[in-house]
Amino acid sequence: MTKFYITTAIHYVNDDPHIGHMYENIVADVIARHRRRMGDDVRFLTGTDEHGQKIERAAAKEGIQPIELADRVVKTHHELWKRLDISHDDFIRTTEQRHRLGVLELIRRIQEHNPTDIYLGEHSGWYCQNEETFIPENQVKDGVDTDGHKVEWTTESNYFFKLSAYADRLLAHYREHPEFVWPPTRLNEVVAFVEQGLKDLSISRSSIKWGIPFPGNPDHVIYVWMDALTNYISALGFGTTEDAALEQYWPADVQLVGKDIVRFHAVYWPAFLMAAGIEPPKRVVGHGWWLRDQQKISKSLGNVVRPYNILDDFGPDALRYYVMREMVFGQDQDYSDQSLLTRYNADLANDLGNTLSRAIKMSDTYFGGKTPPVRCFTNDLLDMTRTVVPQYLEHMDNLAFQRALESVWELLNAINSYIVTREPWKHFKEKGADDALSRILWDALEALRIVWVMMAPFIPRSTREALSRLGADPEKIDRGALQWGGLEANRPLRVADPIFPRIDVAQYIGEKKMEETKPETPAAASAPPTTAAAPAPAAESGPPVETTQAAPPDLAKISIDQFMQTDLRVAEIRAAERVPKSKKLIKMTVFTGADERTIVAGIGTKYAPEELVGRKVVIVANLQPAKLMGIESNGMVLAASIDGEPSLLSVDPSVPAGTKVR
Ligand code: MSP
Repeated sequence: MTKFYITTAIHYVNDDPHIGHMYENIVADVIARHRRRMGDDVRFLTGTDEHGQKIERAAAKEGIQPIELADRVVKTHHELWKRLDISHDDFIRTTEQRHRLGVLELIRRIQEHNPTDIYLGEHSGWYCQNEETFIPENQVKDGVDTDGHKVEWTTESNYFFKLSAYADRLLAHYREHPEFVWPPTRLNEVVAFVEQGLKDLSISRSSIKWGIPFPGNPDHVIYVWMDALTNYISALGFGTTEDAALEQYWPADVQLVGKDIVRFHAVYWPAFLMAAGIEPPKRVVGHGWWLRDQQKISKSLGNVVRPYNILDDFGPDALRYYVMREMVFGQDQDYSDQSLLTRYNADLANDLGNTLSRAIKMSDTYFGGKTPPVRCFTNDLLDMTRTVVPQYLEHMDNLAFQRALESVWELLNAINSYIVTREPWKHFKEKGADDALSRILWDALEALRIVWVMMAPFIPRSTREALSRLGADPEKIDRGALQWGGLEANRPLRVADPIFPRIDVAQYIGEKKMEETKPETPAAASAPPTTAAAPAPAAESGPPVETTQAAPPDLAKISIDQFMQTDLRVAEIRAAERVPKSKKLIKMTVFTGADERTIVAGIGTKYAPEELVGRKVVIVANLQPAKLMGIESNGMVLAASIDGEPSLLSVDPSVPAGTKVR
């Protein structure tokens, strides 16, 4: 079994986790879950960084001991990771005894292997309390650093680590292991930094009390980075007698950190380890930042985003999916509630959720609540999985999560077209539940099972639910489950409420005000809604949204200009339901390419809601709104009328929504 050790940065305990911290743990979790199901022996570590001046001060302000503060706040981290379904195997706190022993052992080993590498010296410089570090001269102007933090000229007697002696060894390491830092642009930055020459590093403080006392000199505590970085091995038992895990898992396979701290992990950390005669990690992976209005989200900038409303209302998977899909891994990305909810509706509620519900519903109706009795091993969807699954796996290995998800969507879209073009509802009406219908629906369900297995590391909770609804084993998400043929025939299916219920974005944002996520701006209610096109003023008596008007032959001729005033467009039906107490009316949510809107149409005698979803239709997009049985309809769906029975104008499924018709 291949071992796989993955770590996140340990987060400052006194900062309540925000979206940036959540992101880092979600990414690590996706990787860990994926490696586990591929058969690796995974160890996933996260934790909290609990020493240093900031927490010392925060505790003093409250009149309590730093450890009391840490004990209290660490609970927030535990609870949040639990709510987000983070599957870490270990959580380290730097205030634990095992960590203290690890740090002391690291110093002892350095002193043993390279006795002159740690020495007592004097250090003067611009000290930034916020960053807990000395800031280089060229980054200080008028008493503040480039981040706008106040700095003070400070002289201290410190222990130093002879980092300057490691430049050549580090450069050689980068040359021999170009995969050591990912992405390559970050490696280039690290190389450039080291090539400029390295200064020795101060590794102790006498001005701070809250930390691990320096061995042999308790007036000093160990400086935060030497302390914090060691967590990755102290968590494996380094420095204790219980160190079997160290043997098993070190060196780490992926050390995941934000781009701001790549340098500490790719320069200081391997140098400390080299000095102590320990192998460096295999890979430091630097992810980008979540931004708000193009600025890094951080406590010190006062623009934190904590999407707790979204977690409360939609569970962890909405957030997990959004961050993994929206951010190109390695790059920065602006956060907005609006984009999260829009993605939720389009990708999760519509594409993933609706396709599942429709396919299950049809199989339930046609095959008595079971998966179809006849399976199929030659068809287009099977062929497609043979190309999509390897692509997906390659993207997962390359940390290209966004592209991996795009591969999943390729298959999902193909399933939709497969259903729309094969029209199982028609087949059933004409020929009943025969073998051919069984194969069509089984193909769709089997391909959906593979879609959901691919989604498992991203949205584990919903995946379990979807697989069990499909009549598949909810725990079977391993390599074998990605192969065609896993779904058994005649297994009970489960029809249930949508896994991802649609949200009316404008209403949701309005109701929630999203205070927590937008602390500095007025309620997000003023943001432009993405759902439902802004309705034109309601007409006194709106046009009937009726699809079956007979065409009188003697209508007056109109000019081309008059015709052009009608905005005909291709739209995609994303949701459909019967209007209560009406035989004829169906309320649909259609996507017009620019917006999602409600259209009510009298097509219910001919069409069932489940056969409408996913279908492309032609609509009159610029009709004044009209109310039908109390529901406002914004447009009209075109249909031919054969003896009063509507027949929807159909469009090739490959034509994108929003395409103009003339
Ligand atoms: N305690 C140090 C790390 C020590 S590791 C030995 C630290 N803590 S932190 O709480 O400030 O940050 C923890 C992680 O969250 C870092 O990897 C950091 O880059 C990441 N993020 C903090 N804000 C972020 C965003 N706005 N976006 C994405 N991640 C960012 O640094």
